[in-house]
Amino acid sequence: MKVRLGRYREGGFVYEDYELDAEGKTVLEILQDIKERIDPTLSFRAFCRAGICGTCAVKVNGQHKLACRTRVWGDITVEPVDIAKPIRDLVVEHETMHQKLREGKVWFDPLPTNIPLKPDELRTTQRSWDCILCGICNWVCPALAQDGSFGLASTFTKAYGVIFDKRNANREEKLRAVAGLNPHLCTHCKNCTFACPNDCNPELLIKLIEGELVKEGLIQRKEQDFGFLGF
Ligand code: FES
Repeated sequence: MKVRLGRYREGGFVYEDYELDAEGKTVLEILQDIKERIDPTLSFRAFCRAGICGTCAVKVNGQHKLACRTRVWGDITVEPVDIAKPIRDLVVEHETMHQKLREGKVWFDPLPTNIPLKPDELRTTQRSWDCILCGICNWVCPALAQDGSFGLASTFTKAYGVIFDKRNANREEKLRAVAGLNPHLCTHCKNCTFACPNDCNPELLIKLIEGELVKEGLIQRKEQDFGFLGF
């Protein structure tokens, strides 16, 4: 099969073709084969090889995927993800994603005493805890492509668990921090929800966070703007 790689080098992309016997392998196994047997200079990110660390996101035939969880048959094209700043070959910048998590204070501050949760209360925040911060929701997000001040779908997905889990202290502080990340810029197009490899449904979580922020008086309810449709 033919594997075409879109490799970023200073100044732009170079497309290179490799002929491999790799039917049914994962994209990550293919990239490792190319690096070990053909071109040791190939750069890509991967750690766990098991869909847990979230570092191996790439575009496979135009779709954003985790390389370690995507098996392929037939010719493929692998490229770096969209929107993120490319650094080298398939590696892109992740610092912006981490910075937004810090700005949103998206970490758990446990209460001094533990509160046992019922199974349905645990299920409420499960989608948030399932997020592995692969960033795919961000790289398919038109709101982010349009305006860099949007707090990122991955930040809001993680923030949901922090805000709605009653074992977390400092809820008020977290809500204010998240309100400052402009969740109202979300267009609710659901690109993030369709692309998320872990079914976290970021669009729904953003909607629920917006509702909570409106209730607390931290943001205004957004009027639907259909201007882009021409009426
Ligand atoms: S290598 Fe960790 S998610 Fe793919």
